[in-house]
Amino acid sequence: MKRLALAAAVLAVSGSLYSATATAQFAKPDDAIKYRQSAFTVLTTHMGRLGAMARGDVPFDAAAAQASARVVDVVSHLPWDAFPPGSNTGAAKIKGDPWKDAATFTKLQGDLKAQTAKLPAAVATLDGLKAQVGATSRVCRECHENFRQVR
Ligand code: HEC
Repeated sequence: MKRLALAAAVLAVSGSLYSATATAQFAKPDDAIKYRQSAFTVLTTHMGRLGAMARGDVPFDAAAAQASARVVDVVSHLPWDAFPPGSNTGAAKIKGDPWKDAATFTKLQGDLKAQTAKLPAAVATLDGLKAQVGATSRVCRECHENFRQVR
């Protein structure tokens, strides 16, 4: 219950950020980098919780899965306004050139949002969770193969 309440709070906050990010300006590239990497950290944390259930490392818990799925759905919209052109500086770990190859980068963002939108309903059952976590992770992986530099 506690976790659900927390997730609801996160959702309420990120819901109001939604529209704000559309016009977000970052004072310096480092601010944008921190913002998008933080969003990715939240994404990977909640995808990790869902993945643990998919693998059977932790018991399937529909309410907890639903809470994580909703966070992933909302937060998957956040990183993309925080890629100002040329912000492959400082702590950024970007591979290739997402700005030059904007068509691919943007398409993969859309693919991700399409998959994460299906998560909250899909995780009602363990089979649904496994399938949709798989489909979502494939998009994460595809974009990383193109655009994320892994040390
Ligand atoms: C459209 C492309 C794209 C998609 C889709 C995508 N990522 Fe990433 N991800 C990136 C890029 C680019 C970086 C590097 C950002 C940077 O270093 O500034 C990154 C970095 C990360 C990082 C490292 C953050 C850090 O602190 O350095 C994590 C974790 C991560 N992504 C998780 C995910 C997960 C989980 C998903 C799927 C739910 C996902 N990403 C989907 C492009 C993507």
